[in-house]
Amino acid sequence: MCGIVAYVGHRQAYPIIIKGLKRLEYRGYDSAGIALLNGDLSVYKKKGKVSDLEDSLDPKDLESTIGIGHTRWATHGEPNDLNAHPHYSSNGQLAIIHNGIIENYIALKKELESRGHVFKSQTDSEVFINFIEQIFTDLNCDLEEAVRIALQKVVGAYAIVILDKNAPNQLIAARKGSPMVLGIGDNEFLIASDATPIIEYTKKVVYINDYEIVSIKDGELSIKNINAETTQPYIQELDLRLDAIEKGGFEHFMLKEIFEQPRSIADCLRGRMNAQTGHLVLGGLIEYNNKVMNANRFLFVACGTSWHAALVAEYIFEELTRVPAEVEYASEFRYRNPIVHEGDVIFAISQSGETADTLAAIELAKSKGAMIYGVCNVVGSSIARASHAGSYTHAGPEIGVASTKAFTAQVTVLTMMALLIAEKKGTITAQRFHQLITELENIPAKVERALKSNDYIAELASEYVDSTNALYLGRGVNFPVALEGALKLKEISYIHAEGYPAAEMKHGPIALIDENMPVIFIATRDSGYEKIVSNIQEVKARKGKVIAIVTEGDTLIPTMADHIIEVPDTDELLSPLLNVIPLQLFSYHVAVLRGCNVDQPRNLAKSVTVE
Ligand code: G6P
Repeated sequence: MCGIVAYVGHRQAYPIIIKGLKRLEYRGYDSAGIALLNGDLSVYKKKGKVSDLEDSLDPKDLESTIGIGHTRWATHGEPNDLNAHPHYSSNGQLAIIHNGIIENYIALKKELESRGHVFKSQTDSEVFINFIEQIFTDLNCDLEEAVRIALQKVVGAYAIVILDKNAPNQLIAARKGSPMVLGIGDNEFLIASDATPIIEYTKKVVYINDYEIVSIKDGELSIKNINAETTQPYIQELDLRLDAIEKGGFEHFMLKEIFEQPRSIADCLRGRMNAQTGHLVLGGLIEYNNKVMNANRFLFVACGTSWHAALVAEYIFEELTRVPAEVEYASEFRYRNPIVHEGDVIFAISQSGETADTLAAIELAKSKGAMIYGVCNVVGSSIARASHAGSYTHAGPEIGVASTKAFTAQVTVLTMMALLIAEKKGTITAQRFHQLITELENIPAKVERALKSNDYIAELASEYVDSTNALYLGRGVNFPVALEGALKLKEISYIHAEGYPAAEMKHGPIALIDENMPVIFIATRDSGYEKIVSNIQEVKARKGKVIAIVTEGDTLIPTMADHIIEVPDTDELLSPLLNVIPLQLFSYHVAVLRGCNVDQPRNLAKSVTVE
């Protein structure tokens, strides 16, 4: 969580940092701040959005070619002006921006207080910069060395950038556990939590590794590890277009991303699958092919929407590969003593590739000898790099905090993977394999058709805008879609919603049903259709309001449901890719009508880099 941006070079730093912070606002938006160095080291910070900070400042007063900026998702201390970053050290010489958590900050704070440091905020980050200042003073060394020594003593996660009032052309940065990308331009450098603030200025980037310290002094770059050994930066060329991170005429990123799904699913399939030739290949698998094909068990670890994609995958993997599959919340998995064998293959699913719990789950599974296959959207992300092998989802940048196109891309990659394994293991017939890859190729066009219900769903949303609860029900591979539909609604509209397997309704949720309770059924034609029809009748008998997602041309359910939304017919195993579309649109329109901030819902962050 939290976004950081830093600039040093020949241009004005302020506009670059403000624009960069806006691009990183998906990471947190409780407060924002910048520090600029121009003779004085000046900090400007404010509770609220980056635009609130911007409105309070006059760029004329902000001339400087070096600066740091931060957009915060509060961990220690409530969101207010004082807890906003950057933080000064007690003597005012240093300023820090920090993304992460320093776990031993209480002990450090006590020690520093006994040495006369006075703290203005409740943050661990202010303790961190004072700790560095103390070492800097005690040892009378250079700042880079003081940072290095401090890092040996702090416990926790950090991506930090520090300015020193007495060093007008210097940025010192370091990372452990929180993401950091360095951009190298012509006589200028940028540092950020991801590449989006950088791409306008340079495509040359270095993904900073854990325990590396970056020093930029008078235009010279050096990177050392925590043992003071110089490391060679691996410079990569970014393949990211500016228009991919802009709204492109849509009112919100979320809507843009929902509508991008025909393209993002097609991009995910491109070059990997061809139904005509029967060709299916995932480049990431090649080196680890034997390990995956001979796995005793597939274990999926993920959080949030990615966990729902993993649940969909569990059904598909077991059905096609006949190998046991299990899904774990990364946060639960990492804190018990899970049974993991060398023959297990762990799929780590993550849009951002930075989720702290998923990363920790990977490390735990690795230590027990398992092979890790990462399925990430963000290229070069920490999870992608920590995995033995992997496949990117190629959905393009997802900026809306509520995940949409990443989900369908994850399900697409995982479906291809299951098909590939099933084909190699001989657990699928040639005919069924061909049928499924042909249908998978048709999915982008069918998603396009499902999106045509947008106007109708917007109207429907107006009927439910004042609901206080909602129940989402599905069966089989569409049970996780019910969970995802409920999550979308609660995330962005703050309406309480629950997803349930439809058959479980009788074991509790049925007690909630009355004429005010909307019940959203995923009721497309599949092996559970008749059962779902009975469940709909049970809800109607209790006067619940039924919205049913049905297959085009269904004539039975429209006679019972209050509203129906049609999606094209497809294979049951692929139906989550279509059925989730109206649920995404429904939550979007309800949230817009309720006046909620769809792209930046309260208290949430896109990338949860703290546990
Ligand atoms: C946060 C986001 C969710 C996302 C989850 C997992 O909660 O708001 O949209 O599903 O993190 O993130 P990941 O990047 O690992 O998929």
